[in-house]
Amino acid sequence: MQKRKLGNSGLEVSALGLGCMGMSFGYGPAHDKNEMISLLRSAYEKGITFFDTAECYGPHLNEELLGEALAPFRDKVVIATKFGFLEGDSKKGLDSRPEWIRKSIEGSLKRLNTDVIDLYYQHRVDPNVPIEDVAGTIKDLIQEGKVKHFGLSEAGAESIRRAHAVQPVTALQSEYSLWWRTPEEEIFPILEELGIGFVPFSPLGRGFLTAKIDENTQFDSSDFRNSLPRFAPEARKTNQAFVELLGKMAADRGVTNAQIALAWNLAQKPWIVPIPGTTKLHRLEENLGALDLKLSAADLSEINEAASKITIEGSRYPEHLQKIAGK
Ligand SMILES: NC(=O)c1ccc[n+]([C@@H]2O[C@H](COP(=O)([O-])OP(=O)(O)OC[C@H]3O[C@@H](n4cnc5c(N)ncnc54)[C@H](OP(=O)(O)O)[C@@H]3O)[C@@H](O)[C@H]2O)c1
Repeated sequence: MQKRKLGNSGLEVSALGLGCMGMSFGYGPAHDKNEMISLLRSAYEKGITFFDTAECYGPHLNEELLGEALAPFRDKVVIATKFGFLEGDSKKGLDSRPEWIRKSIEGSLKRLNTDVIDLYYQHRVDPNVPIEDVAGTIKDLIQEGKVKHFGLSEAGAESIRRAHAVQPVTALQSEYSLWWRTPEEEIFPILEELGIGFVPFSPLGRGFLTAKIDENTQFDSSDFRNSLPRFAPEARKTNQAFVELLGKMAADRGVTNAQIALAWNLAQKPWIVPIPGTTKLHRLEENLGALDLKLSAADLSEINEAASKITIEGSRYPEHLQKIAGK
């Protein structure tokens, strides 16, 4: 398995991680626990050492799942989890008060069946709590041996700098794929300057880029994608242009859309570690195949040029969620 380092921190992980959210949360009902345990253990056997979860996935269910599944090889894997929502519930709004972080971590440690969290992200910047207080709390938790590395998710440029000045940030986790490239503009130069790694979430565009979703796809009523403007049926129809672009490249190379989407993501910077999510072993294997696919400079500029001619339909979040992203 290829490995990558997240920025200057020295934290080494498999070049592709596994996003675990969809196993319990977000994309329809939670999947069968035993099946997911077996999937997580297969992922480890295939060389994945980087597992992504959050307190609010479930809430709690996803951390419990990882705690049980990864226990046999806990010291061989890097577990990343996140805090920052009131009572750990993303529906209840933000809460990064130091007293909540301290409560939150105790719950996460217990559910994850561990005494240290390898990478602890603030899930969203909380406008009511100075980021210095958040970074200071994590600094203390690192000194106490409860956290190894500090991360931020969807943080904006100023927050990253201010946090990093108090406690070095190991990784930023934000959305990044061919149909959401905003981090390239302002964020990538800062990450490069400060030596912070980047962990793209939704690198497959929440499944859309894989060509397995079109305007006729019906999501479960509890699926979060029903609320995303970009996934409205009309928008999906327009946005198929991206899928077709990837599909053409994939067909020419005898690979799949997902593999092109991930190889594109990996090719952008050596300090990028995408965390595609899946609940299916055959897709996990397919996604790992992206590591063997090297896109040339000519391939990348062909993709860039074709993508620049496509207008994306629909914002990536509804307004109330857009407001708390990228702050
Ligand atoms: N920090 C944050 O705010 C934040 C936000 C969102 C996500 N995340 C993290 O990032 C991880 C990944 O993001 P994501 O799950 O939103 O999106 P993603 O990885 O872009 O896509 C996941 C979706 O694609 C499908 N899929 C995966 N591989 C496929 C393949 N080869 N062919 C066809 N379909 C495929 C999955 O369905 P199946 O399960 O049916 O395969 C799932 O519906 C999450 O699990 C979570 O850990 C973080």
